[in-house]
Amino acid sequence: MTTSIPKQYFIKEKQPSGTTMLESKIPTFVGMGYRLDSDTGVWVAKNNTDFAYSDGDVQEKYIFNAVRTSRDVSCSSDELSTKIKDWPSEYHLSPVRSNLMAPFQIKQETSILELGCGMGAITRYYGEIGAKVTAVEGSLQRATIAKERCRDLNNVRVVCDNFKNFQTDEKFDIVTLIGVMEYSPKFIGGNDPFGECLAIAKSFLKPEGTVIIAIENRLGLKYWNNCAEDHTNGLFDSIHDTYPPNTVSTFGYEELKNVLTKAGFVSVEFLFPFPDYKLPSVILHEKSLMQKEIRFASIIGQQFSRDYSGQSNRYFSEQLAWHTIEKNGLIPHFSNSFLCVCTLSPDACPIVSKDWVVKIYNSSRSACFLKFITRSSASRGVKHCCDLGLSCCIETWCCVIP
Ligand SMILES: C[S@@+](CC[C@H](N)C(=O)[O-])C[C@H]1O[C@@H](n2cnc3c(N)ncnc32)[C@H](O)[C@@H]1O
Repeated sequence: MTTSIPKQYFIKEKQPSGTTMLESKIPTFVGMGYRLDSDTGVWVAKNNTDFAYSDGDVQEKYIFNAVRTSRDVSCSSDELSTKIKDWPSEYHLSPVRSNLMAPFQIKQETSILELGCGMGAITRYYGEIGAKVTAVEGSLQRATIAKERCRDLNNVRVVCDNFKNFQTDEKFDIVTLIGVMEYSPKFIGGNDPFGECLAIAKSFLKPEGTVIIAIENRLGLKYWNNCAEDHTNGLFDSIHDTYPPNTVSTFGYEELKNVLTKAGFVSVEFLFPFPDYKLPSVILHEKSLMQKEIRFASIIGQQFSRDYSGQSNRYFSEQLAWHTIEKNGLIPHFSNSFLCVCTLSPDACPIVSKDWVVKIYNSSRSACFLKFITRSSASRGVKHCCDLGLSCCIETWCCVIP
């Protein structure tokens, strides 16, 4: 375990020189309708206008200062964790955010287009694993914070634009929409905003590339149990479909599958992050659920869902309910969030590693003692190793499932 402590500093100090080579391989946006803002380092659309998305000006300025004044801005930064004081700062600064991406095997120099990068919590992760990252964000303040979060990573470009107007000739290995597609009615518009959003994502994809989407499940268990809808803060808005017009909307499992299939993806894999995609401690693959000898409900039931509006009264025990849900084969329908992996071709490069059944993260430890447990049905005995592909020291434990 002690080897992990220097590793964190190693990454921080070595990354810039290691990524200079990559930088030259990322095309600039000169002549594409963008100018490089010399104060922020963000590529800004020349016709940039206000973009109405904010966690609140005070909250966003607080997060900017937290990032700007921190020496360690890595995904696993304990320094940033100490600056978490409310839900917006937790969402953007928590080391738990990047757990979402750990099921994916993303090679160095993979080109990633992140649509709606927010303040860079996931952008930073892509950058740390050595991907060539183009992150697009509509809000200039948020794009500026994302750039600051990635200030030592020359393999990360941040662009401020509504991605429906984003211009580039480049095609990407991976395009991501993490907590973004649900805003299509507001920021994409038109008669079929979700179809349009997916068409935009597809238009930037290499033929063998992958689109990754994280989104809430409108029928997630917590929403039946007195938790406010995450975007509107209203009770039952997702279940009743009482979203205000042209704002935001989420989907259920079958509904989302249909939307993704209609958009032309030939393969759609579902993963289920618990308690949700925002702060995942457990991730299941839909194929995991075929392992009937494992009681997933006992693992999921320990991941307490959060009502991000702050109220805590619940009607029933979700921990007990998960057992009934599992017995009826309904985990995909009640999972609070979805993580979808979509490809255009059956020959697409597989990016979800296949040798695991459930990923369990221990996020209550300091960065240098972080670990995750991978339960693998294939392995024999207990393997214990350091995963050098990630920003902090993470132990991988592969256990035999009895
Ligand atoms: C819930 S936040 C998620 C941010 C980030 N993906 C993350 O996981 O930390 C959604 C972000 O997407 C951005 N966004 C939504 N639609 C967009 C669009 N059409 N163009 C650019 N940015 C968009 C919003 O401004 C916001 O920062």
